[in-house]
Amino acid sequence: MRVAVAGFGGVGRRLARLLLERGGSHGLSLAAAIDSRGHAVFDSRGCVEEALSAPRGGLAGVSCGAPGSGPGVLRGLGYDALVLTTASSPGTGEPGLGYARAALEDGKVVVAADKPPVALLLLEHGGPPPGLFYKATVMAGTPLIDLLRVGLAGRRVLRVVGVLNGTSNYILNLLMEGVPLEEAVEAAVRLGIAEPDPSADLRGVDLALKASIVAQTLGCPVGPGDVVVGGTVYDAAGWAPGLRGAGAALRYTARVDVAGCRAEIGLTLHGAGSRLYSLPGSLNAAVIGLEDSTIYLEGPGAGLGVTAATLLSDLVLSRRAGGKPPYFPAGL
Ligand SMILES: NC(=O)c1ccc[n+]([C@@H]2O[C@H](COP(=O)([O-])OP(=O)(O)OC[C@H]3O[C@@H](n4cnc5c(N)ncnc54)[C@H](OP(=O)(O)O)[C@@H]3O)[C@@H](O)[C@H]2O)c1
Repeated sequence: MRVAVAGFGGVGRRLARLLLERGGSHGLSLAAAIDSRGHAVFDSRGCVEEALSAPRGGLAGVSCGAPGSGPGVLRGLGYDALVLTTASSPGTGEPGLGYARAALEDGKVVVAADKPPVALLLLEHGGPPPGLFYKATVMAGTPLIDLLRVGLAGRRVLRVVGVLNGTSNYILNLLMEGVPLEEAVEAAVRLGIAEPDPSADLRGVDLALKASIVAQTLGCPVGPGDVVVGGTVYDAAGWAPGLRGAGAALRYTARVDVAGCRAEIGLTLHGAGSRLYSLPGSLNAAVIGLEDSTIYLEGPGAGLGVTAATLLSDLVLSRRAGGKPPYFPAGL
């Protein structure tokens, strides 16, 4: 399977390295990449190495590169699967949405890490269209989406409550230790856990997109704009210190209620008996409430290595059963 990567930043490059190292054993080869200014059609391993050492936006300048970016470039690439590692606008879903639509219309597989285009595509198609794989968009290193789409197919899921934004969790953990918000943000940025401007994470933009994707995976047509925002991490600054002493923990959670088709994000308090009480660092977790039992899932929610590995896993999955695995909303 020939893989094209749209978005050649941190995650796109890490995936390219992984495909060079291990792609062959899964029948996957890196065929092309696109950044904001140009594209490269990889004719040799040497040119991939060249692209990996090029500065950001430098694909047009490598020996197998050319100027020109955007969905129109896809037609000339000769690929079977498109990996979407662009960082798209939460409002419009672009530039990722245009790439994803073009690839799906051409009957290609799309494997995405970019959340806005996925949330909007799910809405357009009334659920996951054939050929779309997106488990890197939520709990990137932990297969929540596969569990909901495949492992729990036919089971009745009542709700999912998740800590799905690692940056928020890292900062809330520091706030609860008495670290002031500004210092907590600085520490998260310094360690590469947060973006230089983490306000979209702390205001819940990322969490709302993930809540929308989880809800739609479960058959509820909740767009990102339909997610109820009950609070932000900034609201926690005044009262998080001292909570630990009182035997409580504060989490920024997404809650999806399947019966009411409702998704909400906000700060929630957890006592020592809650599964979300102890969640150190930037870990993610999800509590899946079924009609007859509860499943708890915990693991990494971001990081270049785990995100690239998850994209590779979706590529491997897409090759099974003609690229159309038996995925259904779990509520059916
Ligand atoms: N980092 C993580 O741990 C993680 C985890 C899960 C999901 N994700 C998601 O994965 C995606 C990629 O993350 P990242 O950290 O790799 O972001 P990034 O470093 O900012 O990379 C984004 C890439 O998109 C490219 N781009 C911008 N406009 C484009 C266009 N019109 N056509 C083609 N490419 C275009 C940029 O090109 P230039 O190089 O030319 O600027 C850049 O290469 C994001 O959506 C992110 O939310 C990331």
